[in-house]
Amino acid sequence: PRTIVVDYSGPNVAKEMHVGHLRSTVIGDAIARVLEFQGHRVIRQNHLGDWGTQFGMLIQHLQERGSGGGTLQGDLNELYQEAKRRFDADERFAERARQRVVLLQGGDPDTLRQWRELVAISKRHFQQVYERLDVSLTEGDYCGESSYNNMLGEVVARLDRAGLLRESEGAQVVYPAGFTDRQGQPQPMIVRKTDGGYLYATTDLAAAQWRIEQLKADRLIYVTDARQSQHFAMVFATLRAAGWAPGRVQLEHVPFGTVLGEDHKPFKTRSGEVVKLLELLDEAEQRDEAIIDQKDPQLPRDQRRVIAHAVGIGALKYADLASDRIKDYVFSWDRMLAFDGNTAPYLQNAYVRIRSIFRKGGIDPAALDRRAIAVRDPAERALALQLLLFAPTVEAVGRTLEPHRLCTYLYDLANLFHKFYEGCPVLSAQDAAVRQSRLVLCDLVARVLERGLGLLGIRVIEQM
Ligand code: ARG
Repeated sequence: PRTIVVDYSGPNVAKEMHVGHLRSTVIGDAIARVLEFQGHRVIRQNHLGDWGTQFGMLIQHLQERGSGGGTLQGDLNELYQEAKRRFDADERFAERARQRVVLLQGGDPDTLRQWRELVAISKRHFQQVYERLDVSLTEGDYCGESSYNNMLGEVVARLDRAGLLRESEGAQVVYPAGFTDRQGQPQPMIVRKTDGGYLYATTDLAAAQWRIEQLKADRLIYVTDARQSQHFAMVFATLRAAGWAPGRVQLEHVPFGTVLGEDHKPFKTRSGEVVKLLELLDEAEQRDEAIIDQKDPQLPRDQRRVIAHAVGIGALKYADLASDRIKDYVFSWDRMLAFDGNTAPYLQNAYVRIRSIFRKGGIDPAALDRRAIAVRDPAERALALQLLLFAPTVEAVGRTLEPHRLCTYLYDLANLFHKFYEGCPVLSAQDAAVRQSRLVLCDLVARVLERGLGLLGIRVIEQM
């Protein structure tokens, strides 16, 4: 077992989570679950964007708006937009906001209190999203940018001692080997601005140091969109050059593509705004409930809720996981909720069919003799071979960090099961030994489907 830090989700305080955060959250969670299942010690890290100059503007606006001492009500997104509008339009407000940043960084108690409140409200919002999404991140996994504050000066000092620090136009920079700009000049990574402020990269250097030296990690995984590839490549090169990441420590950026709308442009609402995650989750469940209404109007309310949640949210997550993560993918409700094709509902349905075999036959799968498998029919053989591929598939996902391999595997398994089920009667098999063997195969398929979907963070249901 290794100690593996998985850095994922990482939303930003005072901004509502949007669809762009969905991928990091869903892919990162699947990766963490798979590595954990393999027996590794997995440390989840939610690198929250909870520090930076934007807080000056937010807190200043809050103070002037008059909700200074009271509790903060309403939509954080709106607050952000209001503050930003003022910041851009009113130079005197912008100046006061900059003063507020200085107060925040200087530890002014009143300013800090308000900052903490903003962070707390945001965390409540994120936690709500994670719960709805069945994502395994908890409060304890938050380790936001602000937690590295007191390390940043020392990071720069250590870079200096390692002989890596240079000056460029008043700023302090490093030149990681192998990075050049368009003119072929060495490309700097700024670690300290002219005004003394630190940057995203400085914080990531501190965080990596913390994870390697304090958490004793020997594999660092970062799940963000592909636009940050260069950032991580430069951070990794610096960690190596400074000797902070010895060779035994694996450093991996897990990039992913953009979610596109059906028009193949970045996914937006009809009015052109970013899609809010909570609204997206509501829609996933509503759409599935509408399908249930058509297929099975008799089903009791509460049962419908459970199914709509498992299937709607499962479909949304699965669509994100099933395509090669590095590629952009087109968001389509109809495709992800379809009962055929490589979708969550298709796999959940295969599971439901198997469970109904056992219900119909009044058989308890736990009571089966698992050694009683006898493979005769070619469809049985194909199914048994596919079952044996489960472990190597999980192993491959743990190595490549590509969850779509598990999706493809489960999809093939469900297809082979359906072929088997068409050609090989189970409950009505004449021979008792054949019947027993086929029941064991069915149960194994159900268990692998449940386990496999579980590793992707998707639930199975007994009925749908
Ligand atoms: N907050 C960042 C963003 O929204 C993601 C953080 C990723 N993790 C990291 N260690 N840089 O882009």
